Amino acid sequence: MTNRPLPRLTRKDFPDGFRFGAATAAYQVEGHKFGNAGVTHWDTFAATPGNVLRAEDGALACDQYHRYGEDMDLLKDGGFDAYRFSTSWARVIPEGRGAVNREGLDYYDRLTDAILERGLEPHLTLYHWEMPAALADLGGWTNPDVHLWFGDFAEVVDDRIGDRMASIATINEPWCVSYLSHFLGHHAPGRRDIRAAARSMHYVLKAHGEAVSRLRARGRDNLGIVINFEHTQPASDDPKDIQAAVTQDATNNRWFIEAVSKGRYPQEALDGLEPHLPKGWQDDLAKDISQPLDWLGVNYYFRQLVAHDAESPWPHTKPAQGHLATTQMGWEICPEGLRALLVKLKENYVGDLPVMVTENGMAWDDHLRNGVVNDPERCAYITDHLAAMHKAIEQGVNLQGFFYWSLLDNYEWAFGYERRFGMVHVDFETLKRTPKASYHMLKDLIART
Ligand code: NOJ
Repeated sequence: MTNRPLPRLTRKDFPDGFRFGAATAAYQVEGHKFGNAGVTHWDTFAATPGNVLRAEDGALACDQYHRYGEDMDLLKDGGFDAYRFSTSWARVIPEGRGAVNREGLDYYDRLTDAILERGLEPHLTLYHWEMPAALADLGGWTNPDVHLWFGDFAEVVDDRIGDRMASIATINEPWCVSYLSHFLGHHAPGRRDIRAAARSMHYVLKAHGEAVSRLRARGRDNLGIVINFEHTQPASDDPKDIQAAVTQDATNNRWFIEAVSKGRYPQEALDGLEPHLPKGWQDDLAKDISQPLDWLGVNYYFRQLVAHDAESPWPHTKPAQGHLATTQMGWEICPEGLRALLVKLKENYVGDLPVMVTENGMAWDDHLRNGVVNDPERCAYITDHLAAMHKAIEQGVNLQGFFYWSLLDNYEWAFGYERRFGMVHVDFETLKRTPKASYHMLKDLIART
């Protein structure tokens, strides 16, 4: 697969102003033990046996808290245009509500300066998964007041750095925040409960709406949300498998994009979830959740085959493995799925609204040998997905940026430090950064005219 010739794209193949960047998230890179940050539900989830590989947590991570200058130099030296990062709620407000931790805000202020000083654009995501433990104690994303708490947090962050951001996303991957974490139990808080799932799926969107209203009232015109999409396909042409794929597409993908762009939830998902939604959900959709956005962030990684599961209750689905090559995560590589998704989003949901691919990338079992990491699989993955984005642009999609996930190898949640997504290798003993071949490939592509 990796010895075949790759498409030879250059910056010129993309529209003027198209930004090439890389993304990270606070808990995955910063080092949560620094700077008086409060405890998060990922700390407690990781400390509970069986949840995370080797019970690893984000206490040290990549120590970006101290090494952000070096990390921003890597982006600048690579010719990148932009950095996507997130703010840890518990670093800014350790108890989730109330007293603000100045040190936390000072850190994001320094980081913002470091980004701007290097001529990079800062792209902020307010919430990327580390709920303060004090709020998790109150039910976290299932508490009916969580939108108000989140709105307050958004304003505190906005006060300090909002005016310098190129874009602000409210929530990263609401499906993971809610369904993956409250129905499948794979992420903190590790619940497996349909009522908690339905409520968190609604309240996370209500929190998005609350933050948009409050930041809009303060004059921000660069507000969006980052939604994860998988390319869902039926495992066979059996009508039951086809129905299973429709149901999964409705819960994993359409729930979130239909809510924010059309103010409705798909019926196939309501079939299972409606009895568990809080009263007044229709009004929330109309009033808060579906207000206009300035851009949409798309995270895309893989194709997912789905089969009917007669033995389980709703949604009666189970994952199936296809024949495509897979990454270290076991995820099927399908660049065509990204092209199709971007075109579908334009045609069915967002029209000409600016879209950015806020995450795309792959994990591989990389090895540092003689000071070098050769990752031809990742080079191919990136090039093929950029070619897919290029095609989508030719088909009229208003795509304005691509952020590789991730700048650095980092804390891959339930997989600890084992799954390496970075275009820069991190030695987790010494924290030394070593750009991989894929970083150099992107650097060449960006510079090529
Ligand atoms: C999406 C998430 O936003 C990010 O935190 C995660 O590391 C990547 N996917 C890879 O799984």
